Amino acid sequence: MAKGAATAPQATPDMKLHEGLVPKDTLTITDNRTGKAYEVPITHDAIKAIDLRQIKVNPDDFGMMSFDPGFTNTAHCESSITYIDGDKGILRYRGYPIEQLAGKASFLEVSYLIMFGELPTKAHLAEWTNNIVHHTFLHENAKTFLDGFRYDAHPMGVFISTVAALSTFYPEANQIDDPVIRQHQIHRLIAKTPTIAAFAYRHMRGLPYAYPDNELSYAGNFLNMLFKTTEAKYKPNPVLEKALDVLFVLHADHEQNCSTAAMRGIGSSHVDPYSAMAGAAAALYGPLHGGANEQVLRMLREIGSVKAIPEYIKRVKSKEVRLMGFGHRVYKNYDPRAKIIKQIADEVFEVTGRNPLLDIALELERIALEDEYFVSHKLYPNVDFYSGIIYEAMQFPVEMYPVLFAIGRTPGWLAQWQEMLMHKLPITRPRQIFTGVETRDFVPMEKRK
Ligand code: ACO
Repeated sequence: MAKGAATAPQATPDMKLHEGLVPKDTLTITDNRTGKAYEVPITHDAIKAIDLRQIKVNPDDFGMMSFDPGFTNTAHCESSITYIDGDKGILRYRGYPIEQLAGKASFLEVSYLIMFGELPTKAHLAEWTNNIVHHTFLHENAKTFLDGFRYDAHPMGVFISTVAALSTFYPEANQIDDPVIRQHQIHRLIAKTPTIAAFAYRHMRGLPYAYPDNELSYAGNFLNMLFKTTEAKYKPNPVLEKALDVLFVLHADHEQNCSTAAMRGIGSSHVDPYSAMAGAAAALYGPLHGGANEQVLRMLREIGSVKAIPEYIKRVKSKEVRLMGFGHRVYKNYDPRAKIIKQIADEVFEVTGRNPLLDIALELERIALEDEYFVSHKLYPNVDFYSGIIYEAMQFPVEMYPVLFAIGRTPGWLAQWQEMLMHKLPITRPRQIFTGVETRDFVPMEKRK
């Protein structure tokens, strides 16, 4: 069975001391401080951290913990949504390879798959699409507070705040145990994220908001809300519409990344999904996560020409700067999404004209893939390396890049949130290793030195 495949959470079995015959699916741990041996069950190639707690020197000790800053080797859930093999460069949603979904299934089809576990039938997709399409409008009051943001407000800050504010419009959303109410919020969030994103963009540009056109596709309507001017009916360019839809598919889920862990962590307190998703979007905003494609563009502009690349590589190797869009916590091989994006780029550039930054990106990639530093550190282009170049060619300002990522990731966040609730996981509450002063007496002000 694949690592991380879902089963219902199980109670921790009692531990036995290591005596004689050792069952096969166990780990024997010898504590050299006491000479005692412990048998810990292994499930899915993992041991339960709580099973370490019995390992003590003195009976009143707290017991052993595992120390894992950044969760580099800690599974915090069982999940059946997305499978990644970082060494082999594999990404699958519900078992389907990303290469078979991108370009063949629409974003709403993939959202359904991620959410419900199966590809929709024609009838299911029609119903799902209808539910999304009928929730694209924002409450008119939302426009009032959007107007309150400064003209140069970063659209990701606007996006995060507006998603959080939606909870005030739908107070029933805190009934997270009711499947019908939960489903309703899922429709709303998938439907309204493009509207929020487009309104944030129009605000930044000082343009009047363009309302949703529900006759268009999900991506087509988004382009309409972004770029419609005086025409009675906006007609999206089919190549750009398709490219955007594929980009959303590529971003739809990525198992336990920083923002998804935030979604699950915040959701584990049983807050409403709008508040949890605002937190997830905030995590995505950071330059080490969804903010990276914005940084890639800034970096390519800073490099400026193919000639200047070797000098920049030197600065990367001396650790003065990082090569943005390279490296990944999980992929230690080419990110499969980056390969697909590279293919889309050519189709987009046929419509928009070639982005001159592409030459710098291609040369940077060529050098990095041959260079000992990058090879030995297993640093390959990630999803963000080429997406920014495509977004720029489609005339999105860099500030919109993490917002585009957030639209695509919305079904993933929601499916992971729902799965966390279904599995009845406890509130997220990690431990710490305390390294501060144990105890001391209060010193009055006049006696402090
Ligand atoms: N450029 C240069 N060196 C790098 C890079 C990079 N982009 N990424 C990692 N390294 C080096 C580090 O300096 C370190 O070197 P050392 O072992 O000699 O000290 C080693 O590789 C390991 O680096 P970590 O930061 O420990 O790797 P981690 O797995 O924690 O980080 C991360 C992954 C944050 C994505 C990192 O590769 C990075 O900062 N990349 C640039 C930002 C980026 O593109 N982020 C987007 C990720 S994709 C996404 O979120 C959708």
